[in-house]
Amino acid sequence: MWRALFLLVALLATAKSEYKYETLWFKVPLDHFGYQRNETFQIKYLVNEDYWDRGNGPIFFYTGNEGQIEVFAKHTGFMWDIAQEFRAKLVFAEHRYYGASMPFGNKSLDNKHIGYLTSAQALADYADLVNYLQGNAIKPPYPVIAFGGSYGGMLAAYFRMKYPHIVAGAIAASAPVHQFTGMVPCEVYNRIVTSSFKIVSGRCVDNIKSSWAVLRNFTKSSNNTAWLQKTWNLCDPPNTTSDVQTLIDFLQDMYGTLAMVNYPFESDFLMPLPAQPVRVVCQYVNKTFKDDKELLTGIGKVLDIYANYKKTNKCINYKSSSYGNLDASGWNYQACTEMVMPMCTTGLDDMFEKSPWNFTEFAEKCHKTYNVYPMEQAARIQYGGNRLQAASNIVLSNGLLDPWAGGGVLNTVSDTVVAVVIVDGAHHLDLMPQNPNDPGTVIEARKIHKQNIRKWINEYWK
Ligand SMILES: *[C@@H]1O[C@H](CO)[C@@H](O)[C@H](O)[C@H]1NC(C)=O
Ligand SMILES: *[C@@H]1O[C@H](CO)[C@@H](O)[C@H](O)[C@H]1NC(C)=O
Ligand SMILES: *[C@@H]1O[C@H](CO)[C@@H](O)[C@H](O)[C@H]1NC(C)=O
Ligand SMILES: *[C@@H]1O[C@H](CO)[C@@H](O)[C@H](O)[C@H]1NC(C)=O
Ligand SMILES: *[C@@H]1O[C@H](CO)[C@@H](O)[C@H](O)[C@H]1NC(C)=O
Ligand SMILES: *[C@@H]1O[C@H](CO)[C@@H](O)[C@H](O)[C@H]1NC(C)=O
Ligand SMILES: *[C@@H]1O[C@H](CO)[C@@H](O)[C@H](O)[C@H]1NC(C)=O
Repeated sequence: MWRALFLLVALLATAKSEYKYETLWFKVPLDHFGYQRNETFQIKYLVNEDYWDRGNGPIFFYTGNEGQIEVFAKHTGFMWDIAQEFRAKLVFAEHRYYGASMPFGNKSLDNKHIGYLTSAQALADYADLVNYLQGNAIKPPYPVIAFGGSYGGMLAAYFRMKYPHIVAGAIAASAPVHQFTGMVPCEVYNRIVTSSFKIVSGRCVDNIKSSWAVLRNFTKSSNNTAWLQKTWNLCDPPNTTSDVQTLIDFLQDMYGTLAMVNYPFESDFLMPLPAQPVRVVCQYVNKTFKDDKELLTGIGKVLDIYANYKKTNKCINYKSSSYGNLDASGWNYQACTEMVMPMCTTGLDDMFEKSPWNFTEFAEKCHKTYNVYPMEQAARIQYGGNRLQAASNIVLSNGLLDPWAGGGVLNTVSDTVVAVVIVDGAHHLDLMPQNPNDPGTVIEARKIHKQNIRKWINEYWK
């Protein structure tokens, strides 16, 4: 399950290149929580004031997650869509250790330097930045609303929890704040992946389920691996059992990603994909196949759409650890320290081979890679797990087609910690720019977001 951890990336759609912003830098301490390391470095942030009612309008603040901030600015259309109505200033802050916000330049991700990559340090950066944007005022002049999707959604919620004096409220979209040890079953993610495929076609699920054993058996002969390389357009033939495992992991990630980005419109963020990609790929595995080669040919078509929809890749490099545009290489370190998100498959409730979660094995791998051991309960202890009754002014939204909804908050916690469920939404569809193909449920969710934002701003002015 090591590779599945790459999946907590914000997946966004339909970039609007007309979004304009200024690129600025802000100096932050390397270490907010001790006084011995006094180095500083710069984080990047993007600003648009076109619609801002200076002196009255709020600041909409995107708590950047694991990737270059430009990507989030370009793809969080919801903030741009409502900026004029709220006369808001837009700010998108880059998370330390991602994009260009590197404390030690290109050595930042070395084991010697990566230690200051934590969510708490990132939130403290954002608090300092907001304080600066407020003119370091004792009585800050502007209400600030935090926005974020995926890990960025977790940060938006945590920002409000930890710094309620700095941020008036948070829209936390598809934030898996419950995806920690002991809080939800580890198989829930893959169960939802499967159900998102099952809604489209039960036969598709059955065929995918049987493809694993077929693939393992089929690749035992070298003639077959040569055939598979050719038919699937793989860069390398899966010659060894370890190659076959890598290929299987790649396919499993693929199905998860397809479920996450199962948007009603064409999207081009992580990789270009057609509208309703799950429906599109299931066309090719939606029948009774007469033999293994025919089944594998169908799976190969799925792979081709996922990895090469625009036909720009010469071949499919299933051995590459990251597939797509977002450079999230720091995330594995975060997953190996505080963001331990158990993932497993049962082979019963899901269309995958059985693969249990083994924390010991995971911890050993982390130690080998980063020379650190994960703290299994760190995120729950720091951020409250499912005891959020004392928090306030947070909307936690989830689309039920999104595998990450399994670790999300689906029930309203209190009058001011509110769950919004988008029945036919994929991964933070509500943050995307509005689109003619939007389902009614996401249009409704965005209305609720706006009502809450307005309420928080009014409260601020009271
Ligand atoms: C940082 O610490 C070093 C060594 O302790 C000290 O020489 C230097 O003056 C400090 N710099 C700042 C800006 O405090
Ligand atoms: C890292 O940055 C230094 C200084 O900017 C540069 O000289 C070096 O080529 C870079 N190394 C890599 C691997 O990019
Ligand atoms: C395994 O593959 C061989 C040859 O490709 C085939 O004859 C056999 O039926 C397969 N066995 C199973 C259990 O699928
Ligand atoms: C593999 O392919 C070669 C060349 O086409 C052929 O001569 C050989 O018999 C095949 N081996 C098997 C086990 O099918
Ligand atoms: C894979 O196996 C085939 C047949 O044994 C061999 O010709 C080829 O060089 C191998 N490729 C790699 C990348 O190991
Ligand atoms: C699968 O096949 C059935 C029967 O041919 C068809 O009704 C259905 O629309 C197909 N589903 C997909 C997703 O292609
Ligand atoms: C978990 O992994 C550890 C280390 O690899 C191994 O010793 C142990 O047997 C595994 N536990 C289970 C239940 O498989």
